[in-house]
Amino acid sequence: MMVPTERVLHESIQVNALDLTDDVKRQKIANLLTQMRLSSATARKIQDIFRSEMNKGIHLQPSSLQMENTYIPELPDGTEEGLFLALDLGGTNFRVLLLELVNGVVVREDVKKYHIDAHLRTDSGIPLFEYLAECVSNFVISEGLQDVELPLGFTFSFPMIQHSLEIGILVTWTKSFNCPDVVNKDAVQLLKDALARRGDTRVKVVAVLNDTTGTLIQGATQDRHTAIGLILGTGSNACYLERADKVEHWEPERHGEREVIIDIEWGAFGDNGVLDFIKTEFDLENDANSLMVNSFTFEKYISGKYLGEIVRIILVRLMKDGLLFTRQTSESLLIPGSFITDYVSLIEQDTVDGCWLHTKEVLAKFHIVPDEEDIKIVQYVCEVASNRAALLVSICLATLLDHMEREEVTIAVDGSLYKHHPRLESWMNKYISLLTPARKFKLIHAQDGSGKGAAIVAAIALRIKSRLE
Ligand code: BGC
Repeated sequence: MMVPTERVLHESIQVNALDLTDDVKRQKIANLLTQMRLSSATARKIQDIFRSEMNKGIHLQPSSLQMENTYIPELPDGTEEGLFLALDLGGTNFRVLLLELVNGVVVREDVKKYHIDAHLRTDSGIPLFEYLAECVSNFVISEGLQDVELPLGFTFSFPMIQHSLEIGILVTWTKSFNCPDVVNKDAVQLLKDALARRGDTRVKVVAVLNDTTGTLIQGATQDRHTAIGLILGTGSNACYLERADKVEHWEPERHGEREVIIDIEWGAFGDNGVLDFIKTEFDLENDANSLMVNSFTFEKYISGKYLGEIVRIILVRLMKDGLLFTRQTSESLLIPGSFITDYVSLIEQDTVDGCWLHTKEVLAKFHIVPDEEDIKIVQYVCEVASNRAALLVSICLATLLDHMEREEVTIAVDGSLYKHHPRLESWMNKYISLLTPARKFKLIHAQDGSGKGAAIVAAIALRIKSRLE
């Protein structure tokens, strides 16, 4: 028999039932989507697996969680001062930022966004890093700072093996990047070399970091209990403050550090097969349509690059089975990648508001004029896929909170999916509380951690260096 708390958990993770007049159709759709629904027992099982994978990762045993040492052993203390450059590479846009810090607060911020063409993201790495260096030079020269020595924090939002605060060896590309010759190379060295070849600025790379790290650091300037950084955007990942004595991978000499930020790289959770039991036929197709097949299993269940695609795959299946859009067919819906995650957020907004406006607009882009039942089904599919993502993220966060054993933890979050989706945050608050009722936690939005956080990390890197000299 289910204990009462498990019953509450079980009941809370249900989505609203699909309300159709045609009972047979309703049953068929519900049956097909059962595979997307996680029971409370499954949630508990995933918690156990995540806990075990985290422990293995931190103890350097084979695990799908890298648990990488970032070598950032302290949070901002309000003394950070000066002019810093930040680079933010992770999505299809690359950003260069100039930030001035006074007493740990950003008082000036100039930002420029550069688009990275698909060929630069997927060919050889040399042109990519030449382009990054060119953008940096153009930016610095346009600011009239070419003769000033500028410390730079490089947000490189991909899995890295870090040998120090300024060495990051790329493990694998994710999201929309795949320049094969960069794998196993130091992204910082590639950037430094490209900048040196130009020789037209005095930029000095002092730290490399992940966007989750930048988010945690930025969050720490907003709330002193911040100890987790989370990105729910195109990709997904989290980092947290770990006790330094628990961390086995530590290459440079230790200097009495008490804690350090660990980059979990949870996008790869399940790449060793431990999560296969929740993989649906829709996930298999989503993976097959992706740039890096059989890689980043967990990210493909939850993140913004894939959520829309999962919904599209389900809608197409329902359409082909004669359960949806029976009065018309849509060719454009058959195109992989055509149903972006922002559409899911818009449709979810309708569900929250109890209306159809956005749903109709989105479907119109696919030349579909839906009837009332179609709308209900599309909204249901978006809800089921979004709810699974929220639950999976909450399972990992609850497990992480238990692992950290702190009295109070603020989770700093950033990312387009989190910002645009109307109810991820409320679901996460509910599910984390149910999964780990004794833990005190808070979710806050840390605006632009990958930019501002990079400048603050650069300042921390300089502070650590000057202490050791
Ligand atoms: C990368 C992480 C990153 C996350 C969010 C993932 O694909 O592996 O390093 O933090 O995306 O941008």
